[in-house]
Amino acid sequence: MAERPTARIAVFPGSFDPLTNGHIDIIERGAKLFDRIIVAVLTNAAKTPLFSVEERMTIIRENFKNTPNVEADSFDGLVVDYARRRGASVLVRGLRGISDFEYELQMAMMNRHLDPAIETVFMMPAEQYTYVSSRLIKEVMTLGGSITGLVPAGVESRLRKKGSART
Ligand SMILES: Nc1ncnc2c1ncn2[C@@H]1O[C@H](COP(=O)(O)OP(=O)(O)OP(=O)(O)O)[C@@H](O)[C@H]1O
Ligand SMILES: [Mg+2]
Repeated sequence: MAERPTARIAVFPGSFDPLTNGHIDIIERGAKLFDRIIVAVLTNAAKTPLFSVEERMTIIRENFKNTPNVEADSFDGLVVDYARRRGASVLVRGLRGISDFEYELQMAMMNRHLDPAIETVFMMPAEQYTYVSSRLIKEVMTLGGSITGLVPAGVESRLRKKGSART
C-alpha cells in the first residue's frame, strides 16, 4: 500500500500538572497510531498550577526521550488554532469513564464547530489508570498517601521536593 503523502500529526492538549501514568499510557497509544504526537501544555488554564509550564514540558521530555515521535510544547488560546498552526489534523483526548464523557463530547463538538477539518480521537487507558488524575495525585500526596506506580518516578520525587502539594 502507498505511503501517506503527508505525516499525520496529532495534538494531545492538557494541563499535565503533573504528568501521570494515565497520560503516559495515552501518549504511548497515540505514538503508535500517529506519525507524530505533540503533547501540548495549556498555559492559560484558570487553575493555579503546581508545576511551571517549563517544568511540565521537562517532565514530558524526560519520559519520552527515547520516543522520537513524541514532542512536548506549550500553547495558549484555542487548541484548534494551535493544531492548525502545527499542521495537526487530530486532537487526542483520554476517556477514563463516563464521568469524562459529557465534558469531552462538548469540547469535541465545539472544536468541530470551530474547525471541521480537525478530528478528535478518544482513547481509553489501561484499566489500572482509569482512576488517576493530576488533581487526585496531588491530593493523595498532600495527605501522605502512596502514589507509587501511578506517576513516573521523576514526578514522585519532584512532588516530594515541593513538600506540600497544592490541590
Ligand atoms: N488516567 C488517565 N487516563 C486516560 N486519560 C487521561 C488520564 N488522566 C488524564 N487523561 C486525559 O488527559 C487529557 C488532559 O487532561 P488533564 O491535563 O486535565 O489531566 P487530568 O489528570 O484530568 O488533570 P486534572 O486533574 O488537573 O484535571 C484529557 O483528555 C484527560 O481525559
Ligand atoms: Mg482533567
